[in-house]
This record gives sequence, structure tokens and C-alpha cells, in this order.
Amino acid sequence: MKPIKVGLLGIGTVGSGTFNVLKRNQEEITRRAGRAIQIAMVADLNVERARELTGGECEVVNDANLVVSNPEIDIVIELIGGYGIAKDLVMKAISNGKHVVTANKALLATHGNEIFKAAQEKGVMVAFEAAVAGGIPIIKALREGLTANRIQWVAGIINGTTNFILSEMRDKGLDFDVVLKEAQRLGYAEADPTFDIEGVDAAHKATIMSAIAFGIPVQFDKAHVEGITKLQADDIRYAEQLGYRIKLLGITKRTSNGIELRVHPTLIPEKRLIANVEGAMNAVLVHGDAVGATLYYGKGAGSEPTASAVIADLVDITRLATADPEHRVPHLAFQANALANTPILPMSEITTSYYLRMNVADQPGVLADVTRILADSSISIDAMLQ
Ligand code: NDP
Ligand code: HSE
Repeated sequence: MKPIKVGLLGIGTVGSGTFNVLKRNQEEITRRAGRAIQIAMVADLNVERARELTGGECEVVNDANLVVSNPEIDIVIELIGGYGIAKDLVMKAISNGKHVVTANKALLATHGNEIFKAAQEKGVMVAFEAAVAGGIPIIKALREGLTANRIQWVAGIINGTTNFILSEMRDKGLDFDVVLKEAQRLGYAEADPTFDIEGVDAAHKATIMSAIAFGIPVQFDKAHVEGITKLQADDIRYAEQLGYRIKLLGITKRTSNGIELRVHPTLIPEKRLIANVEGAMNAVLVHGDAVGATLYYGKGAGSEPTASAVIADLVDITRLATADPEHRVPHLAFQANALANTPILPMSEITTSYYLRMNVADQPGVLADVTRILADSSISIDAMLQ
């Protein structure tokens, strides 16, 4: 059988990992896919570096439009990032009848509904395993492995950069800025690292998981987003004294009133497995009514871990390319005409536990005042440090 031909847009951190892993494991991947997967064309702004990385093994161009309009290309991998040019290219690839693989959670969390609709109309697949939790096959688990379940909640450490920053600050006492620079050097951080540290990247991923877990459209604009920039070393220390670790969690949960979709720093009891997920590792807990709690752990960022997920999608598409579109797994796990309009709850309607740190005047009666004010609002105190 002829190889399936792939066009790669962007050969940076993830693109180069994809090229290298595909080449290194070509034989085994072909045995799994049933036919060879060949990167026939690469587009990157830095043509010279792209030629060096690909060693003359494929055509290199600097205009990605040449790839998405090339009739020889069956699958387009979008690894440019962002929602400007990346969106145009993905939409063009779809309208030219090409299957798409992308790691671009920002694009899918904001424009996913439009992209999946266009793909469905055209009968092509858009695969995005790498968009959530890097190398962990969480999309596959949610969409296929747990398909019997009514999912109740999903919660996870889904941003490697912030977990790396929190771990290094706690273990080595390093400064925030120093660790962030290291995360950028290691290729974990987004092109705009404020997406990582302000919780936006985690919210993109939580949005995608929420859609797949509950069968709703992607709705990033309704997510509650809070990052780690307001945390201070004191908070990390106090959390430890209370027996907790602070982690940036992405949480999505089904309730009787609607769906919670939130990202914020969270206190986790230090004995829990997820509290001990360190560095750029990710971990996602999924609770289904039949299976109970399940936990997925692995590298959430970086060149080859993310390439692992990109290539898994390539293999899936290669196997299913000739299948009737209705025999494929729906983009958001539920049939497109069966998505629900369950509301996403605003944070003001969510009841949960909070950590409060306050500076008060050192005078008798202050604590009594604080507890009374909380009690007046029916808030009980679980633990306190003075
Ligand atoms: P990089 O910045 O390392 O790579 C992007 C590449 O695209 C660069 O080589 C860039 O060239 C090239 N590029 C930019 N604009 C164009 C264009 N118009 N046409 C062709 N090429 C272009 O990003 P990453 O590899 O880190 O990330 C890629 C995607 O994967 C993003 O969506 C990201 O969110 C996602 N992702 C990243 C992970 C990671 O660990 N890094 C993990 C999971 C997902 P130049 O450098 O010359 O600008
Ligand atoms: N910037 C992201 C992170 C890359 O740090 O998790 C993986 O999606």
C-alpha cells in the first residue's frame, strides 16, 4: 500500500519531536498503522533550520499555504500554535478535504465548535490528543476507554510549566522568574508564557475535557481562570504547615445545576497521589459512575512526549482514513447532533472550600470578629494557623 502523505506545519519543539520519533520508530509504527506514514512536506518560517532538522528527506517551504493546498497531502499536522494563521490553515486544510492533527488547545478551546462542524461537513477527522496533557492519552481515555460511564468529574494538573514552577519554588526555594525561564528553555512554556502562569493554558485544556466528558460544545469564555502569579512563598509554606500542597488544578464537574469549569490554585492533602506530582509531569483524575476514580499520569509537555500523542493521532487517522465518517469516533465523543446545552456555572454559584490569608490588627477580639463574620455567612472553618 502507498504511504499516507503528511504535511507538517511548524517544526519547532513539538514538530521536530514528531519528525524524529516518526523516523526513529518508523518500522513499528508502520506495522501498527498498516501502511507507512511519510512526512512529505514541512512548512516553517525558518526554512534553513527546517532543512537542517529534516536532513533533506522532504520538501521544505516557508509558505504553509502550499502544504494545505497540495493535493498529494492526506493529513496536515498543525504545530504552529495560536489562533491567527493556525486557524486559517486548519480551515483551509479541512476545506481541501485533508485530515488534521493539532496540538493547539488554544485554537480548539476557542474555535473548536466551528472547526469540528466544518470537519464533519467535509467528512474529515480533526485529532487532538496532544492538546491536553502532552503525552498522556487522556483524550483517548475519555472518548473511548470510559465511554460506558456517566462522567461525574475530571480534575487534573494539566499545565507542566506551572507545576514545574511550584515544585522548584517549594523544593529548591528558587524564584518564580528563574524557574519560568528554565521552563521556557526546556520547551514547556507557551510562546506567550502568560498563558501558562495565568491559568489560560490549563483552562483551554479543561474546556476541551469538559466538552468531551459531558457532551457539550467547547465554551472557554465561560471558564473561571486563575493562575499562580498571585501566590506568594508564604502561601506555599502555610499550606505545608496545614498538611497540604498547592497545585494549579483544572476542574470540571457535573452538578444538578450545571457544569463547573474552573482553573485555580488548589490545596491538596499532601498524602494524595496527585499532590506528589512534581516538575513538568501532569496527572488527570477522572471519576465515572461505573468505573469510579481513575488516574492518568505522565509527561505533560516537551518535544518527544507531545510527539508521542501527535503520532498516535496520525496512526488512528491512517487506520480510519477509508472508514465511513459515521464509523469514526465523534470529535467530542458524543454524536454532533446529541450535544447538550447544560449551562456552565459562574464561580459565584459554585460552593467549595477556600483558603484565606489575612493580615489583621494584633488586638484582642480580632479572631472572634473574623469567625463571627464567616459564621454569619454560614462558612465554617476547617483549620486555622495564626
Ligand atoms: P514552537 O514555537 O517551538 O514551534 C512553532 C513553529 O512554528 C516554529 O518553528 C515557528 O517558526 C513555526 N511557525 C510560526 N509561524 C509559522 C507560519 N506562519 N508558517 C509556518 N511555520 C510557522 O512551538 P511548540 O512546538 O512548543 O508548540 C506548537 C503547538 O503545540 C502549540 O499549539 C502548543 O500550544 C502546542 N503544544 C506544545 C507543547 C510543548 O511542550 N511545547 C505540548 C503540547 C502542546 P519560528 O520559530 O521561525 O517562528
Ligand atoms: N505550555 C504547556 C504546559 C505545554 O506547560 O503544560 C503543554 O501543553
